[in-house]
Amino acid sequence: MSKSTNITWHHGTVTSEQREVLTGHKAACLWFTGLSGSGKSTLSRALETALVERGINAYVLDGDNVRHGLNGDLGFAPEDRAENIRRIGEVARLFVDSGALVLTAFISPYREDRDRVRNLLDDGQFVEVWVNPGLDICEQRDPKGLYKRARAGEITQFTGIDAPYEAPASPELDVDTGALSVDESVDTVVSWLIAHRIISSTPSSEASDIRPPSQ
Ligand code: ADX
Repeated sequence: MSKSTNITWHHGTVTSEQREVLTGHKAACLWFTGLSGSGKSTLSRALETALVERGINAYVLDGDNVRHGLNGDLGFAPEDRAENIRRIGEVARLFVDSGALVLTAFISPYREDRDRVRNLLDDGQFVEVWVNPGLDICEQRDPKGLYKRARAGEITQFTGIDAPYEAPASPELDVDTGALSVDESVDTVVSWLIAHRIISSTPSSEASDIRPPSQ
């Protein structure tokens, strides 16, 4: 429980509607969940680029990156993973409050931890995206060689091998990155965001000036 005492929540006067006018889109958290190697980081990065090119204030929080800094003190035991997701949920909530479209890419293997984040946000602001090519494909890809090491017993508590992954019961979106290309996966999510009126179907007029340096 919280150790902070004698604190008061301070409300600003800027409304979420004003922020929507400023950004031209709704604020939301796209929560990518799935096994290591499922494509969460690849998809969320490609989506971030596509959204920024449409003039949308999108930003990725990525598991491996966040574990270098904010969550560098946490390991992979269930309670550490719960704390990892709790902190990211709180950070994501701040991003949503700021009017951003925040994309999070964490295994987040426990349903309870993900649902806790869902409950932090307003209805419609938490979009659970199950990145689901199946364990076999993740293990074949093994981009960091971690499955091999987990099978050899060099890494323990590895998700999908000797630690559980609890699949989402009713995710807003289910993306099979084994069957779809990165571009097709991005299009699937963008179409969903347009259909649910989180973003507009017409990119903002200045958006064509926005190109990441590598493009
Ligand atoms: S989570 O389970 O707490 O959500 P998170 O997404 O932050 O995990 O970090 C997962 C990344 O940590 C993996 O992509 C992988 O690179 C690395 N990793 C190192 N050890 C493990 C492990 N035991 N289980 C899963 N991922 C691990």
